[in-house]
Amino acid sequence: MSDIKSPSRYTITAALPYTNGPIHIGHLAGVYVPADIYARYLRSIGKDVAFVCGSDEHGVAISMKAKKEGVTPKDIIDKYHAIIKQSFMDFGITFDNYSRTSAPVHHKTASDFFTTLYKKGDFIEETTAQLYDEEAQQFLADRFVIGTCPKCGNEEAYGDQCENCGSSLNATDLINPKSTITGTVPTTKETKHWFLPLDRYEDFLKDWISKGHKDDWKPNVYGQCKSWIDGGLEPRAVTRDLDWGIPVPVEGGEGKVLYVWFDAPIGYISSTKEWAARESKDWEPYWKDKDTKLVHFIGKDNIVFHCIIFPSMLKAEGSYILPENVPANEFLNLEGNKLSTSKNWAVWLHEYLVDFPEMQDSLRYTLTANAPETKDNDFTWKDFQARNNNELVAILGNFINRVVVLTNKYYDGKIPATGSLTNFDAETLEQLSKYPEIISTSIERYRFREAGQELMNLARLGNKYLADEEPWKVIKVDEERVKTIMNVALQIAAGLAVLS
Ligand code: 2FM
Ligand code: ZN
Repeated sequence: MSDIKSPSRYTITAALPYTNGPIHIGHLAGVYVPADIYARYLRSIGKDVAFVCGSDEHGVAISMKAKKEGVTPKDIIDKYHAIIKQSFMDFGITFDNYSRTSAPVHHKTASDFFTTLYKKGDFIEETTAQLYDEEAQQFLADRFVIGTCPKCGNEEAYGDQCENCGSSLNATDLINPKSTITGTVPTTKETKHWFLPLDRYEDFLKDWISKGHKDDWKPNVYGQCKSWIDGGLEPRAVTRDLDWGIPVPVEGGEGKVLYVWFDAPIGYISSTKEWAARESKDWEPYWKDKDTKLVHFIGKDNIVFHCIIFPSMLKAEGSYILPENVPANEFLNLEGNKLSTSKNWAVWLHEYLVDFPEMQDSLRYTLTANAPETKDNDFTWKDFQARNNNELVAILGNFINRVVVLTNKYYDGKIPATGSLTNFDAETLEQLSKYPEIISTSIERYRFREAGQELMNLARLGNKYLADEEPWKVIKVDEERVKTIMNVALQIAAGLAVLS
């Protein structure tokens, strides 16, 4: 069925969601539904798959939420980790493991990773002036500071990244920085940090991405990477003066923690370790064997971290494989406006599951049919209703219902044997036989919308076949012929069952 001849082992990762809020439809459409389709597809063709995820529980996003609610970061992560994990399960996302970055296995894995790079001399240790909030008596990193992005002019860029243009930033790059804790204008204060010298990896990245993945990475991903690499890379601090995170495990690191974007992607490795231990497997081939294909499913705001920074960390460590592909999606909007956890503009998954307890597949279908694969897209309830009623019910459901009702009525639910085939029967079966290849190819190219459309085309083929053959009329004159018609229709139904 598949064109994927090798490898036979896949490590599939889905971005670790921050536990500062529940999962919404934007997360599902951008990351988790396509990743789940890919994992289910690979398992169905017999591949060895580790599909891992987990909660991203460090970083300023969590501290800010805790401050806002007047509770501890631990209260926040425990609350949202439970909601997120349960909603993924109820929605049918088939992770092999869903971990969390507060787990001891992760603290150790991330800490050891840092120590290995430190011992190999892969960091630059430097004391520099960093933004400081005098009133809060705290250094301002990441989301604790906003300002104008020097690259695109967005006035709400964070201290580590501009979500508008995707640039990765240093807090001191921001124009007109402002503390998000007190609203004051920061001063600067000297502090020591460890930097990953990304400039040292420019040649490697040029070779690996600019030359190696020009044709197989999505244009949005490749384009972003190429422009960063061509623009020149600078050392990035991978430690922070914060009180929430994984302690920096080397001399002089007291009171400092690892940058959340240093520890989070290592969470994929920790999650794989946790899964392997439970399954009595060896985790290492999933991350170190050259025959393993590593694929990261992410949203577009995560591209720099998965295509530039994490691969440079893996390269520096030396024993890990690199991702084969990073099929990042664009964003999904809701009724014309940007989805936002902080502004509470979202369809929350756990709430959807209460309102529509039996309709997981309707949402999966709509989010796939309208997936933001090449551009931002809009989710509307009107479109959800139309996709459900006009496609799932009127095309797919209608076909399956007719086949099942007639098979029950004529043959007591048993599949009749086929007699001799007409040319039309043979042509229809010939068309059916092409769908596994068509749909496999789309999925292997990360074109999940296209795969979904082809699935619906197969249901259309079934409807056309029944409409042309009219077994409900033929039954009155030629009972033998109806057995063949229903056999062909049932073969299409079986094809739909497997391919869906
Ligand atoms: O953007 C986010 O929600 C991040 N928590 C994604 C992390 S992905 C990975 F590297 F862990
Ligand atoms: Zn920007």
